[in-house]
Amino acid sequence: MKIIEAKDYNKMSALAADYIIEKIKANPNLNLGLATGGTPVGIYSNLINDHQKNGLSYRNITTFNLDEYVGLSGENPNSYRYYMDDQLFNHIDIQKSKTNIPRGDVADIQKECLDYEKLIANQGGIDLQILGIGSNGHIGFNEPGTSFDSNTHVVQLAPSTLEANARFFNSPEEVPTEAVTMGIATIMKSKQILLLISGESKKEALFRLINGEVNESFPASVLKNHPCVTIIADEAALADIKVHS
Ligand code: GLP
Repeated sequence: MKIIEAKDYNKMSALAADYIIEKIKANPNLNLGLATGGTPVGIYSNLINDHQKNGLSYRNITTFNLDEYVGLSGENPNSYRYYMDDQLFNHIDIQKSKTNIPRGDVADIQKECLDYEKLIANQGGIDLQILGIGSNGHIGFNEPGTSFDSNTHVVQLAPSTLEANARFFNSPEEVPTEAVTMGIATIMKSKQILLLISGESKKEALFRLINGEVNESFPASVLKNHPCVTIIADEAALADIKVHS
């Protein structure tokens, strides 16, 4: 894993956006895996600024998002479909038909999981997957204990995840308790991975990722087995690494 250090959140976002822009320039047909949460918001606004200023086209880009809440339709402002449209897709020239996010509001969610896995494979796999990390080490919504062999599946969210994500909802009771997420094996099939880590609340997770063992109790640790992972982390997230190294 290669680690790139950024001074702060804004610098991390700018570096990550530049990294993605270079990949799109090198391959205008890129299959891009996307993440939600607070961390990538700055990246998406940098991508929009670049698109408006420099005209980089996303017309032939296909995207696959990591996850979606079960029970929320795309019209719900807390759904990840809504988030992606609002934070990125509505502001660039991407074709909406090429933006893929698992559906959380379908009757047959198990079929949706199988279909999503097939969709990614039929498109030739993900070239570059963007990831954030939960403070408990989750990637996508793969909570501690998830099998490293897992494909797209339905998960029960951990109490710490419900708590962390409650900030986006009007009340904690509104946070869905289940989600559909790419599995660990799905993520690991991506050709390249870009992991973003920002802020003091993530410093323990980053320390554990760097220094801990590869173990299903800490899902992100699997990334040590991937041949092409780049981490961009800010100084606040790297605080413990510096102290101990
Ligand atoms: C969320 C998402 C993850 C995200 C993580 C961290 O629950 N499902 O994909 O990476 O938790 O979120 P944040 O960036 O808001 O800290």
